[in-house]
Amino acid sequence: MIGRNDPCWCGSGKKWKKCHFPTKGKDKAVATQDIKKKYFKKYQIIIKDEQQIKGIRASCQLAFKILDATCDRAQAGITTLELNDFAHKLHLDAGAIPAPLNYGHPPFPKSICTSLNDVICHGIPDDYVLQDGDILNIDVTCILNGFYGDCSQMVVVGGKTTEERQLVVDVSYDCLVKASDILKPGVLVSDIGKTIEPYANSKGCSVVNQFVGHGVGVAFHEGPQILHCKNNIDIPLVPGMTFTIEPMINAGKREAVIDPDNEWTARTIDGKASGQWEYTFLITETGHEVLTPWKR
Ligand code: MF3
Ligand code: CO
Ligand code: CO
Repeated sequence: MIGRNDPCWCGSGKKWKKCHFPTKGKDKAVATQDIKKKYFKKYQIIIKDEQQIKGIRASCQLAFKILDATCDRAQAGITTLELNDFAHKLHLDAGAIPAPLNYGHPPFPKSICTSLNDVICHGIPDDYVLQDGDILNIDVTCILNGFYGDCSQMVVVGGKTTEERQLVVDVSYDCLVKASDILKPGVLVSDIGKTIEPYANSKGCSVVNQFVGHGVGVAFHEGPQILHCKNNIDIPLVPGMTFTIEPMINAGKREAVIDPDNEWTARTIDGKASGQWEYTFLITETGHEVLTPWKR
């Protein structure tokens, strides 16, 4: 929480209560417009209004429900393609579009990402049959009424795995939770990476720096980039920002190698395990809201 006497999150140096403290009516509207223009011009960050937040919240709600339901099915014997088809249908049934399908260059060929064991991110669902002891990240992004919600979780197939795999599952989760805990207006984008990297390193893990979290809501990938390693992107968080944090944590080296056959799937360079969890967040006047509160 930010206190009335704390410095205002806008960087003016004034106390919050003397600056952008929520007031009613015209003053608030003017202050909000100022920041909105400045953030778009300076950083290409879209500060969302009430109506956009409503739409993004609904899309995020759908995304985490599809994610939870798909994770429940991720058991030994099922293929990642069957998980994809199940999640795809849930999107259509809800009147939504799976954002990954045909996204980017070359177009991503499936509706969700399924990243197994040494895959860091952007795994493509296929006929691989899940086995007990696999660790799997499932990443769902839906578009509902034009708004985006993005989230992912790890599943330990059968509940038990190796020490190395369990380590990245747990450390990546703790990184996300520790970073969530600091989010409020005035905190810098760089504080996120400064929270995550030393913690991951203290557990003997590395933080991937070739992929990042991102603004999200009216497009799939908006500004700012949210780096999970130490960085100096000193942009203060402000109310109305919506973005993801999605730390990718490796048991060995941090480097990712992209599969030349599909130009998407990123694997660890040393074949060691990688874990990732992702939330979409909204920054509010007094703190933050997790827009995709999946259940671990
Ligand atoms: N959902 C991923 C993210 O968290 C992006 C996947 S891009 C795709 O940003 F094309 F692979 F779907
Ligand atoms: Co994301
Ligand atoms: Co995602």
